[in-house]
Amino acid sequence: MEILVATEKPFAAVAVEGIEKVAAEAGHTVKRLEKYTSKDELLKAVATADAIIVRSDKVDAEVLAAAPKLKIVVRAGAGYDNVDLVAAKERGVVVENTPGQNSNAVAELVFGMAVMAARNMYDGTSGSELKDKTLGIHAFGQVGRNVARIARGFGMEVSALDPYCPAEVIEAAGVRPVTDIKSLYAGNRIVSLHIPATPDTKRSVGYELVTLMPKGGILVNTARKEVIDEDGLARALRERTDLRYVADVRPDTAAAMEEEFKGRVFFTPKKMGAQTSEANINAGIAAARQIVSFFADGDTRFQVNK
Ligand code: 3PG
Repeated sequence: MEILVATEKPFAAVAVEGIEKVAAEAGHTVKRLEKYTSKDELLKAVATADAIIVRSDKVDAEVLAAAPKLKIVVRAGAGYDNVDLVAAKERGVVVENTPGQNSNAVAELVFGMAVMAARNMYDGTSGSELKDKTLGIHAFGQVGRNVARIARGFGMEVSALDPYCPAEVIEAAGVRPVTDIKSLYAGNRIVSLHIPATPDTKRSVGYELVTLMPKGGILVNTARKEVIDEDGLARALRERTDLRYVADVRPDTAAAMEEEFKGRVFFTPKKMGAQTSEANINAGIAAARQIVSFFADGDTRFQVNK
């Protein structure tokens, strides 16, 4: 079988070597399309692929239609909002993700960004520490759980909101469960977003929630830009000059925000939460293994479009 690794933002070389090894041992071949700059390149590359490994690369109905042999797409990572699940299902294509494989990398970046914001973007002025501060984790999935683990080391007071996660699981991690979204924002100096981008969550965090945050509030977004109501957030930052927003996902209105809220916002130029060689190795190799066991045994344990 031909496995296409289509990564506009490539994995570390060592991860690609690992993917190739896993594939070769099972008798599959790997084709690579890295750092591509046009959709046409992707459309051409998928023509002969039986399986595709992607990251945030868009796999829409057009891409799927250009891949007549395709049987499985694995998003090497957590969020699969980049894959058209319905179109894939219609074509009988299995879509999987690799949950948990890159979550420590993202969680570590949360603290990199939180410290940066608490230290006034390293502008030399006196900032604040994370110790004894309140941290609210918005969604207690794999990344949220890693954030909670690291927060303990910082000596923070941690709460989490997740209607899909039993309160006992949150408590077992030494975290206080919160059931009301307003309390999560009102009660925490730092709020870290870990919700997926779905029709329900898109533009769900904006003026009302952010202005509930206590003085000196810092909103950290290593999830998806789509979950933010950017106009509402800008209004909140305008009215509350004590608030800061740091994101690993450049907003659509990034340039205007950087100009208007200089020193209070920071955005990575490219999404880099999962850009570590460890996360690339974990997620890339997990994706390759999932494809191997799908072809060998029909294993669809990680399917997300059932
Ligand atoms: C994910 O959903 O796994 C993260 O956002 C990482 O995305 P990336 O693989 O495009 O860096």
